[in-house]
Amino acid sequence: MKKILIIDDEKNILTTFRGMLEDEGYQVSTAPSGSAGLTLVRSFEPEVVFLDIWMPEEDGISVLEKIRKESPQTSVVMMSGHGTIETAVKAIRLGAWDYLEKPIHSDKVLVLLDHVYEVRALREQNKELKTELRSQDSLVGNSAAMKRLRQIVSVTAPSNGWVLVYGENGVGKELVARALHRDSTRASERFVAVNCAAIPAELIESELFGHEKGSFTGAMEKKIGKFELAHKGTLFLDEVGDMSLKMQAKILRALQEGQIQRVGGDTTLELDLRVIAATNKDLKQAIRSSEFREDLFYRLNVIPIIVAPLRERREDIAALANHFLKRYNSGRPKRFSAETLQLLQSYPWPGNVRELKNWVERACILCPDETINASPYDEPNQKDSDVFSFGETSLRQAKAHFEKQFLIRMLAENDFNISRTAHTIGVERSHLHKKIKSYGIEVGS
Ligand SMILES: Nc1ncnc2c1ncn2[C@@H]1O[C@H](COP(=O)(O)OP(=O)(O)OP(=O)(O)O)[C@@H](O)[C@H]1O
Ligand SMILES: [Mg+2]
Repeated sequence: MKKILIIDDEKNILTTFRGMLEDEGYQVSTAPSGSAGLTLVRSFEPEVVFLDIWMPEEDGISVLEKIRKESPQTSVVMMSGHGTIETAVKAIRLGAWDYLEKPIHSDKVLVLLDHVYEVRALREQNKELKTELRSQDSLVGNSAAMKRLRQIVSVTAPSNGWVLVYGENGVGKELVARALHRDSTRASERFVAVNCAAIPAELIESELFGHEKGSFTGAMEKKIGKFELAHKGTLFLDEVGDMSLKMQAKILRALQEGQIQRVGGDTTLELDLRVIAATNKDLKQAIRSSEFREDLFYRLNVIPIIVAPLRERREDIAALANHFLKRYNSGRPKRFSAETLQLLQSYPWPGNVRELKNWVERACILCPDETINASPYDEPNQKDSDVFSFGETSLRQAKAHFEKQFLIRMLAENDFNISRTAHTIGVERSHLHKKIKSYGIEVGS
């Protein structure tokens, strides 16, 4: 129930005001003085306080200051019969929600309360969303590699140093870049991501540095470029290994000089940037083959951070899978069967964490049961335990299907050791090998 406290030295105001609010379903408490009111703020914990300004013992402004200090989440509405603009302004400055003139009109109060509770609900929601966002941003996993990565991020983030993040597709490079920004002194400024591989050659300058209105055909409006947007914040240059040489030259110049000009503009803009770059390419190799500029490499590669592929930190798989499961199961409790977890841990995940995340999302949608029984080696809707769930009509096809599922499961149980699996299921190693090949089963690395 919504709780309201009224503090006023006039008894009949307390009575009529209380009656009116109780009729509307509020739970109301009253106090004849500031000190009695403060006690009730502590014990009754109202969301909203109506507070009279003129009271004989202690005036409302001083009580307001105390409430703000002790219980800043409480919304305080001031009331006065002979208030002046100055007191109203002072009250608002001190953090009062609003100021009402006596006599108090019930319509006004009810509208005001609706508004107060709406804003309070939004604030609450905003807080929850932020916490949720932060948890989506966190680097999940407890492998030694992941612990080291988190350690490097926490040391590097506040340093303002430029970082180059390496790693295969989907390992979490962008997540690392965002974590570096979030934990830096620039966190309240923008994080601007530029996908260097995706900008068409003729738009590079305009995208990066912006343009003035009318500077070229088609420039109908002035445009602020990515570099300028990132001023004082973090510029994330993604896929730097896939930039054309022309773009590399442009970016290098801007980074060296720390300033840019919009296309068609004549003023020079000084920029304060922290650059975090990411790539899945071997840049040293690209330098040798003249596809990447060495001078740009040295400028970007101040602090290198390497994110290991998922198959090299298999301990993280279960934690990540459960993390994504929580996100995608939309409220209903779900879990993976022990077998499924085993398969997930043995699968090579060429698309790394992104592939795992997509797989979990798909499995959540396609497996209606509380326990997810599926295999990453297969589509998640084909439950390998259920012989009747697949579409084969001939016995031969059905047998083949079963055989494949059976082999995958037994291989997973034996860590994909072929000799051991062959021994377990009682066939020759060479025979198992042939089967694996003919079914195209991936045995990982
Ligand atoms: N350690 C992790 N904990 C939680 N989520 C992760 C982790 N690593 C990656 N992810 C999630 O996996 C997805 C892919 O990560 P991200 O986009 O950062 O990868 P990337 O290395 O930038 O990929 P690409 O090379 O394809 O650009 C994202 O949804 C990200 O939130
Ligand atoms: Mg990325």
